[in-house]
Amino acid sequence: AEVIVVGSRRAAGALVAEAIERLVLQRPDAVLGLATGDTPLPVYRALAERVRAGLDLSGVRGFALDEYVGIPVTHPQSYHSVIAAQVTGPLGLEPSAVHVPDGRTLGIETAGERYEDAILAAGGVDLQLLGIGTDGHIGFNEPGSSFASLTRVKTLTRQTREDNARFFDTVEEVPVHSITQGLGTILRARRLVLLAFGRGKARAVAAAVEGPLTASVPASAIQLHPRATVVVDEEAAAELT
Ligand code: F6R
Repeated sequence: AEVIVVGSRRAAGALVAEAIERLVLQRPDAVLGLATGDTPLPVYRALAERVRAGLDLSGVRGFALDEYVGIPVTHPQSYHSVIAAQVTGPLGLEPSAVHVPDGRTLGIETAGERYEDAILAAGGVDLQLLGIGTDGHIGFNEPGSSFASLTRVKTLTRQTREDNARFFDTVEEVPVHSITQGLGTILRARRLVLLAFGRGKARAVAAAVEGPLTASVPASAIQLHPRATVVVDEEAAAELT
C-alpha cells in the first residue's frame, strides 16, 4: 500500500476529502464505503466544509462497513444513528441512498446476503474508507477472519469492546456481536483508504502494512489490493520501518 504520513488529523481529512471531491466531480453518483468510529470524522468534517463551499453530494450513494447486532437501530450508538448524524445529514446525502447492514435479530441469517446484493446492485464501492482496530481489524473483521469473507455476523473481541466502551456507559453495554462487510467484500472496492491516528494504532498499522499477510491481522488483507492508500499521523506511523 501507498503510505502517506500527515502532520495532523485535520490534514488527513483535507487530503481524503479532496480525493472524494475529485471522484464525485467525475462521477456524481459515486458509491462511497463509509466507516464509523472516531477515525473518519476529520474526513467527514472536511467534506462538510466542501459541501458548504458548493460541492454537491446529493447523488452520492453509500454503504457503511458494519453495524452492531443486539441494540435497536434507534440507539444513539447504532451505526444507523451514527451514519445519519455524522454523514447523511451533514453531507446532504440522500438518506435512502445510504445503506447500513441490518443488525436486527429478526432476519439476521439473511442480512449478510441482502447487503452483498445491495452493494452489487449499486455497481460496487468506488472508494472505501477504513479505520483500523488496535487488534488489527478492519470493519469488524476480527483476527481469524477469512480473506474471502463476505458480509456476516462476527463476535467482537474483548479488546474491541473495551476500545468501544467509550461510546457507551459501560463495557458490558457494548454489543457482543456485529454484522460486518467481510474482507472479501472490502477487497472488491475499487479503491481503499485506510486512516489511523495516535500511538495506540502504531502496532496495528505496522503489522497491516509491513507484516506478513495473515488472518491474525485482518488489515494485512489490504496488501492484496492494487489501489490501497494508508493515511497516518506521525504517531500511528511510529512503528513503520
Ligand atoms: C467502524 C469500523 C472499525 C473502526 C475501528 C477503529 O465502522 O469498521 O473497524 O474503524 O474500530 O475505530 P476508531 O476509529 O473509533 O478508532
